[in-house]
Amino acid sequence: MKAIDALYEAQKIVFSPFVFQTVYSMYELGLFEIINEQKEGLTIDEIAEKSKVSKYGLTVLVEMAEAAEIVEKLEGDKYQLTKVGYFILRDEMTRVNMMFTQDVCYEGLYHLKDAISTTTPAGLKVFGDWKTVYEGLASLPASVKKSWFEFDHFYSDNSFDDALKIIFRDQPKRIFDIGGNTGKWAIASTKYNSDVNVTIFDLPGQLKVAQENINKIDEIKDRVDYQKIDLLDPTSTIPAGADVYWMSQFLDCFSEAEIEAILIKIKENASKDSTIYIMETFIDDQKFPAATFSLVATSLYFTAIANGNSKMYSSSVLKYIIEKAGLKCVNSYQLHEDSFHTILEVKLS
Ligand SMILES: C[S@@+](CC[C@H](N)C(=O)[O-])C[C@H]1O[C@@H](n2cnc3c(N)ncnc32)[C@H](O)[C@@H]1O
Repeated sequence: MKAIDALYEAQKIVFSPFVFQTVYSMYELGLFEIINEQKEGLTIDEIAEKSKVSKYGLTVLVEMAEAAEIVEKLEGDKYQLTKVGYFILRDEMTRVNMMFTQDVCYEGLYHLKDAISTTTPAGLKVFGDWKTVYEGLASLPASVKKSWFEFDHFYSDNSFDDALKIIFRDQPKRIFDIGGNTGKWAIASTKYNSDVNVTIFDLPGQLKVAQENINKIDEIKDRVDYQKIDLLDPTSTIPAGADVYWMSQFLDCFSEAEIEAILIKIKENASKDSTIYIMETFIDDQKFPAATFSLVATSLYFTAIANGNSKMYSSSVLKYIIEKAGLKCVNSYQLHEDSFHTILEVKLS
């Protein structure tokens, strides 16, 4: 790279919050939609006529968007979306990531340096005085909660169909869904198989929401139980009795040492016939650079906001922790059709 190009790239990085806020504002003000509707593009005056935004406001936004190659100028000073702009408008992963960045992460990320220095989620204070975001999840402001859940569900929901086929090969009768959150997996699995019982383990706020969701569904409500647990409490235990211990997008909420401790809690009471399934988005198992980029960025949400000490892991790291906990990874399934997940099948060794 020539020095002049490197200098330009460096400016893109140091001004990246400006670009992000431009994109977010244009999206929310409906400007991408308005511009995209007119194939031959629109002038600033024409966009002003179709939107409620002033000519001044449009000019500064569009000039930034043009410099960032989100819109391009055509003949007659008309603007149209570039392919990048089109993805920002229409791609669901991009929308979910954008809303998560704005609503959940933007303010808190300001405190990233402190979070790194102290190994605490220093940015979480913008929402409340909790040790981890999970303690306060149920009481976050509505827009923050919406973006948090959309982000969480966007990634896990797509994988449930494939995951159900894998988990039900051995016809489990009881599943422990550890970190079961709002009950999405409990609902999917009890609907998929009419004999299975599921116990959701989670913090009280999430269990309450799961119970409300599940109690609305007559065909499954009697087959789901709820167990309050704080897995960071060293005295907490995971009981015996499950054919399957299911952890989806759960272990990434913990540091390496905490993951090892959780796996040991399972090992202490699990039988040799039970199976532990771990579903994660691993940074080293992705087909597309957009996915790897999203995951390493997500790690910084854990650092600054969620808990200060966890991240999105590589599969090799998790397999190492599994072995260290005295367990054995016997299979690994990459669910790559329309998902980003891998499932690790783990047994007592
Ligand atoms: C990222 S969500 C995953 C939700 C769900 N399993 C999925 O696949 O979408 C992580 C879940 O772990 C729970 N969790 C986090 N820390 C926990 C702790 N210390 N004890 C128990 N559950 C915890 C959270 O409340 C949340 O429901």
